[in-house]
Amino acid sequence: MTASEPTVDLTIRPARAEDAETLIDLWNICALTRWWNDPRQDFQRFTDSANADILVGEDDGQVVAGVCVGHDGHRGWYYYLAVHPGCRNRGYGRQIVRAAELWLSEREIPKAQAMIRQQNQEAAGFYEALGYGHDAVGVVSRWLRDPGLPPDSSVSPDSEGNLDVTITYLEMTSPPQDAPPHPPAGQRVALMRAERPPVSFYRFLYNTIGAAWLWWERRALDDEALARVIQDDRVEIYVLYVDGVPAGYAELDRRAEPEIDLAYFGVMPEYIGRGFGRYLLGSAIHMAWSYAPERLTVNTNTLDHPRALSLYQKAGFTPVGQESRTIIDPRLTGLIPTR
Ligand SMILES: CC(C)(COP(=O)(O)OP(=O)(O)OC[C@H]1O[C@@H](n2cnc3c(N)ncnc32)[C@H](O)[C@@H]1OP(=O)(O)O)[C@@H](O)C(=O)NCCC(=O)NCCS
Repeated sequence: MTASEPTVDLTIRPARAEDAETLIDLWNICALTRWWNDPRQDFQRFTDSANADILVGEDDGQVVAGVCVGHDGHRGWYYYLAVHPGCRNRGYGRQIVRAAELWLSEREIPKAQAMIRQQNQEAAGFYEALGYGHDAVGVVSRWLRDPGLPPDSSVSPDSEGNLDVTITYLEMTSPPQDAPPHPPAGQRVALMRAERPPVSFYRFLYNTIGAAWLWWERRALDDEALARVIQDDRVEIYVLYVDGVPAGYAELDRRAEPEIDLAYFGVMPEYIGRGFGRYLLGSAIHMAWSYAPERLTVNTNTLDHPRALSLYQKAGFTPVGQESRTIIDPRLTGLIPTR
């Protein structure tokens, strides 16, 4: 797909259940997903609602555009308007918004609205080109449930510098039934094992990914001790590259076979929320099961990304135990520099 090709008519239709992953990938590519929204739940709610729909636009049988349209009985609204980056400036955005307008008109809704983030000048320009004006209103909002911790938020220690952490242990005792996941569409993705990686490269991955989640154990090892672990043939480190850039890694520890532990798994901050985590995790799980272990284990704690636990469960892990621990905040001991 390349930009600026002649406009063709999109085939626009309501989304079906099987469009979910394609559409979520599209939202991710268009940077529309946010850590406080669950895109799968949003997809389900928009498609289940009597007052909302998701319209998708197909070009040559491929979903290249989408919009969630709905109304509250008074006004119509759009969310998740997206055109695949490789298909922009061909009039697809215009076509799908016009289809959404028709959807609303058929329900006798007199006015359509969209919320645009202030920094999203592209969307503002696009809507203006379609005849939309800027209303002199602001949006007020209040969370009615706790949205959890943002990925870059830092937890605070108590007055003595301690952090209370709850660790959840999970296991998987049979291989996944599903095929390995596809990487997010439209990205150049490679997954490569880093064999006997240099300590410096490993520290780059671990420290960058783990800083927000206060990963400290490997920081506490000196180079020699760390090399003994990561250069062991039974420790497999798979690095995810996106457009040639290291974007995450997964570490399988086979030193206690027939059990395998997914010792570390994470995505670089810039790549969070774009579908790479699900892909990397699914791939690591399939890799682990290629050794036919008796069980595959993983653990996560309350300092990790708020969605880590549900991601593991969705991938097929079951919680088997929990443990509470108090640790000294690694930022106070100097293990994690705060600058
Ligand atoms: C906004 C978006 C949907 C536009 O899709 P598109 O298919 O490229 O838009 P179209 O080709 O249909 O353009 C329609 C009109 O908008 C204009 N337009 C598109 N992008 C524009 C921009 N960045 N600035 C100014 N005008 C723009 C086009 O020039 C065209 O005008 P014309 O018909 O008078 O020539 C697409 O850029 C996108 O998916 N962005 C990322 C997701 C996003 O921000 N969604 C909105 C969230 S509020």
